Amino acid sequence: MKHKGRDRIIELLDVHKSYAMGDAVVHALRGITLHVHRGEYISILGPSGSGKSTLLHMMGLLDVPTRGKVFVDRVDSANMSNDEMAHVRGKKIGFVFQVFNLVPSLTALENVMLPMMIYEVEKYEREKRAYELLERLGMENRALHKPMELSGGQRQRVAIARALANDPPIILADEPTGNLDSKTGDEVAEIFDELNKDGKTLIIVTHDKDIADHASRIIRIRDGTLHKMNKR
Ligand SMILES: Nc1ncnc2c1ncn2[C@@H]1O[C@H](COP(=O)(O)OP(=O)(O)OP(=O)(O)O)[C@@H](O)[C@H]1O
Ligand SMILES: [Mg+2]
Repeated sequence: MKHKGRDRIIELLDVHKSYAMGDAVVHALRGITLHVHRGEYISILGPSGSGKSTLLHMMGLLDVPTRGKVFVDRVDSANMSNDEMAHVRGKKIGFVFQVFNLVPSLTALENVMLPMMIYEVEKYEREKRAYELLERLGMENRALHKPMELSGGQRQRVAIARALANDPPIILADEPTGNLDSKTGDEVAEIFDELNKDGKTLIIVTHDKDIADHASRIIRIRDGTLHKMNKR
C-alpha cells in the first residue's frame, strides 16, 4: 500500500510567498520546489520563523503563493475557483493543528461531524461515522464531552478524528504534538504511523526530532529555502 505508485499527490514548483508588512516585505518562502508522492510520510523541520507553517498552508491551499505553482492531485491550483479550492480542502486534505482548533461549544462527536456537513449525508450516517472515528482513536467514551472537559492528548485525538472525517488521502499537521507531554506525543505519533500504513500521505511540521524520525523523509527548511533532504 505504502508505495502504491509514485504519483505526485502534491507538487510545488518554485513557490515564493511574501507578506507586505507596512513598507517592509517579509519573504517567508523563497523558491520551494518539492514533490510529495502518494503514501509518503514527510516531516518538515526548521527553526521558528523559517516558513514551515507558510509551506504547509501552500500545500493545503489555505493560502496562495506570490509566485510559483501548487498542484494537488496534478491539478494546478491557479486554475481552481475558490469553490473548487474549498472542495479540494474539504475532501482531499485533513488538517491537524498544534492548538487543536476544536469548536468549544460542540461535543467531541459534533466536532468530528462538522467537516461532513459539506456533503448531503443523513445526520444519522454522519453521527455513525464520527462515532466510529472516535472509537478508532480510543475516544468513544468521551464522545459527548466538550473540548474543555478533555485533556490535551484527548483533544488532539478528537482533532485527528475530525481531520479524517471525509477520509482525505492527505493529512497535513502543524506541530501536532507541540502542546503535548512526551508520552502523549508518542501516542499521537503512533496514530500517525498507523494512518500512513493505511495509505494516507502525511506531512508533519514538528520541532521534535523523535517525531520526525517516524517519517520516511525529513525535509529541512531555513529562511524560506529547503536546505537539505535526507532520503532514507
Ligand atoms: N500573515 C503573515 N503576515 C506577515 N508575515 C507573516 C505572516 N505569516 C507568516 N509571516 C512571516 O513569515 C515568516 C515565516 O513564518 P511561518 O509562520 O511560516 O514560520 P514557522 O517556521 O512556522 O515558525 P514557527 O516554528 O514559529 O511556527 C516569519 O518571518 C513570519 O513572521
Ligand atoms: Mg509555524
